[in-house]
Amino acid sequence: MALAPSSTPMLTQTDVARIRSEFPILKERPHGKPLVFLDSAASSQKPIQVIDAMDDYYRRYHANIHRGVYHISELATEAYEEARRKIARFIGAPEAEECIYVRNATEGINLVAYSWGRTNIRRGDAIVVTEMEHHSNLVPWQILAQQTGASLRFVRVTDDGMLDLHDLDRLLDGAKLFAFTAVSNTLGTVNDVAFLSARARAAGAVSVVDACQAVPRMPVDVAAWGSDFVAFSAHKMLGPTGVGIIWGRRELLEAMPPFMAGGGMIGVVRLESSTYAGIPARFEAGTPAIAEAVGFGVAVDYLTAIGMDRIHRYELELAAYALERLRKMKNVVVYGPGIEHRTGVISLTVGDIHAHDLATILDSEGICVRAGHHCNQPLMERLDVPATARASFYLYNTPAEVDALVAGIEKAKAIFKIA
Ligand code: ALA
Repeated sequence: MALAPSSTPMLTQTDVARIRSEFPILKERPHGKPLVFLDSAASSQKPIQVIDAMDDYYRRYHANIHRGVYHISELATEAYEEARRKIARFIGAPEAEECIYVRNATEGINLVAYSWGRTNIRRGDAIVVTEMEHHSNLVPWQILAQQTGASLRFVRVTDDGMLDLHDLDRLLDGAKLFAFTAVSNTLGTVNDVAFLSARARAAGAVSVVDACQAVPRMPVDVAAWGSDFVAFSAHKMLGPTGVGIIWGRRELLEAMPPFMAGGGMIGVVRLESSTYAGIPARFEAGTPAIAEAVGFGVAVDYLTAIGMDRIHRYELELAAYALERLRKMKNVVVYGPGIEHRTGVISLTVGDIHAHDLATILDSEGICVRAGHHCNQPLMERLDVPATARASFYLYNTPAEVDALVAGIEKAKAIFKIA
């Protein structure tokens, strides 16, 4: 995605300094060094506003929701539902009720695979996925295919880490479902979700979008995307762990049976059978993550106040700077496309240093990166590497932290005697 001109001002280093002051963890000094947190694609850090909101909930109005007629239960219910409304506005969902709280994006995708999938997929049907999917948007479809007798088809990845779309319409011909990521969690590749969703729709396939790395990083409008289901997690967008959203179009959700059964999702229960609640309650069995939903809502407030457009452009600035510096380094291979097609997630290898060794040396400098296959084993195979080190940037990172990463890589090269 190119650095589009925008009327909103760029985030300055003064803005970033203020933002950093609101993240208590950034004052930590692992191994006596300043914490350089470059692993937000795995899980972002949390501002004090989110931490305080959850603390305040537990101190002042914790009670179960949708069950109590007393004051603090009503407060808790209202906070939980208000967070849902904020999240819906944040992603352009036509209705808040289309946003189902789940534990995380993985659970959201599984909800679709179990509920929509087992109702609609039959022997002989085709499911299309891509070679760049996180395992959570691949394995549920493998299991669905195995259990129903459907087949899987794959959109391949080009050498420069883009989706190879030359035969997309052939792959989608007769398919029932197309599952793809909005942004690669390993390469940072930004896919054209609106285009892919439109091709799926034209072929009569339902689109399922893993938006885990997109919703935290760029303005997202699910209605403009024209997708059918979109999954994302709070913990990658300044919110707590244990809560996420699966958004789905109302008519699809309303036609789906429950995924999990229990309290809160029923209409009338008799000994032999039950009727079910409407959406979203039908898919929220049991006591949900109430404090986490409240924290999620405050995370959305925080991002909204800064502006997703500004966050996106700032992250691209950092990524462009990092790419420029890393691509000049000898024996450093950076995977994925150029800055015009990516966001602030950068996978690399350094000579024949194993990614885990590199990450351990970086850790000794206080620098946190993810190392391994990033829950992307088929993509690693495609790239012909066992593992990469991955640096991912977010609104609280700085160009000085890019410099620290480069210096840390130089140190690793010196230790391994690589030119
Ligand atoms: N999905 C997360 C990542 O890519 C955990 O690191």
